[in-house]
Amino acid sequence: MRLLAAEQGLGPAAAAAAVAVSRQAWLLPGRQLQWAGLTSSASRSAAAAAAAASQSGSTGGGGSGSGGSSSSSSGAKLKAVPERIGFIGAGQMGEALIRGFLKARVSSPGKICCSVRDFDRQDALERIGIGSIFGDATEGGSEEVARFARIIFLCTKPQAMPEVLEALAPHITPDHLVVSIAAGITLVTLEEALGEGARVVRVMPNTPSLVQSGASAFCLGRHATQQDGELVETLLSSVGFCIQVQEKQMDAVTGLSGSGPAFVYLMIEALADGGVAAGLPRDTALALAAKTVAGAAQMVFSDDETSVLGMVHPGVLKDRVASPAGTTIEGLAELESSGVRGAFIRAVKRAAARSKELAG
Ligand SMILES: NC(=O)c1ccc[n+]([C@@H]2O[C@H](COP(=O)([O-])OP(=O)(O)OC[C@H]3O[C@@H](n4cnc5c(N)ncnc54)[C@H](OP(=O)(O)O)[C@@H]3O)[C@@H](O)[C@H]2O)c1
Repeated sequence: MRLLAAEQGLGPAAAAAAVAVSRQAWLLPGRQLQWAGLTSSASRSAAAAAAAASQSGSTGGGGSGSGGSSSSSSGAKLKAVPERIGFIGAGQMGEALIRGFLKARVSSPGKICCSVRDFDRQDALERIGIGSIFGDATEGGSEEVARFARIIFLCTKPQAMPEVLEALAPHITPDHLVVSIAAGITLVTLEEALGEGARVVRVMPNTPSLVQSGASAFCLGRHATQQDGELVETLLSSVGFCIQVQEKQMDAVTGLSGSGPAFVYLMIEALADGGVAAGLPRDTALALAAKTVAGAAQMVFSDDETSVLGMVHPGVLKDRVASPAGTTIEGLAELESSGVRGAFIRAVKRAAARSKELAG
């Protein structure tokens, strides 16, 4: 309907009617159902984060956080978390979270400890001020982390998790909250490995957490309390957007936002290649490509008469920039005939299926 109005060059009244139709389409029951699948706290946090993102007009920004509070990536005030936080494994994702928490000032270097295996990792963490660094989690590191911290992030690869859980289990008490970021490792697996009553939260973060533009989802284990959920939400909100989901949705989250940054990097690289092919110097093309992707994503969180939960449907935004017989519609037609839309859908589904495979 929108496309028809634009293509036929209808006047403002007809165009407004077309937008109204598109708004109705955006509010179809199927779409509402998608949101209803989330918990009420998730809906609240989605709406709040989206609204805050649109108000601040920025997805970046660090915390100003003095006096026990800081700013989330969306600009909302966050309380510093007083509990000490331990990390078992601090590679790409673990370090991204640590750096993000420090940048947002929800924690401080003295309140964080890590269990790592090699000297390079230790050096990298010392450079960002972490003083309490313990050795291999399977050789005493777990015990030291459990003694130091009340919140323990498990950030090793999924394949290393069985032996890490086995080493950690004897040191877990009812005071501990264990947060696993390992793809495909279920709450049941974590709870069974850590023992009866263990408070467990499963999280799927992504690496843009490092620059406080992460997108994370979490689900609560059987013994995790509402306060545990709020605590995890505070930490993850400090490094970006965060939403609570049902565990059965975690593989889909892994395929979309967990693996998604890599899909977008490939897209940015390809756009830049296109710019070079069209005559731009490489650095100019790369900067324009990356800024275009970041700006377009921000537009989805802008607020207008068509927005739902603080988001504008990307199809509405696409139609607005595709003028009749213009350059953009030519490019879009090429993307559609190359099957790019289907390729993205299949990539997310394949990554989600791999997450399920890892769960065994
Ligand atoms: N990377 C992402 O984009 C992403 C996104 C969402 C979720 N995740 C999840 O995050 C987890 C970590 O992924 P990653 O990409 O950060 O992997 P990574 O860079 O390989 O980091 C894992 C770290 O754990 C360390 N480790 C392994 N066994 C250990 C032990 N027994 N004691 C102490 N440290 C140990 C590894 O040390 P060595 O280097 O010595 O092996 C490594 O530094 C995975 O479970 C993944 O599913 C990752």
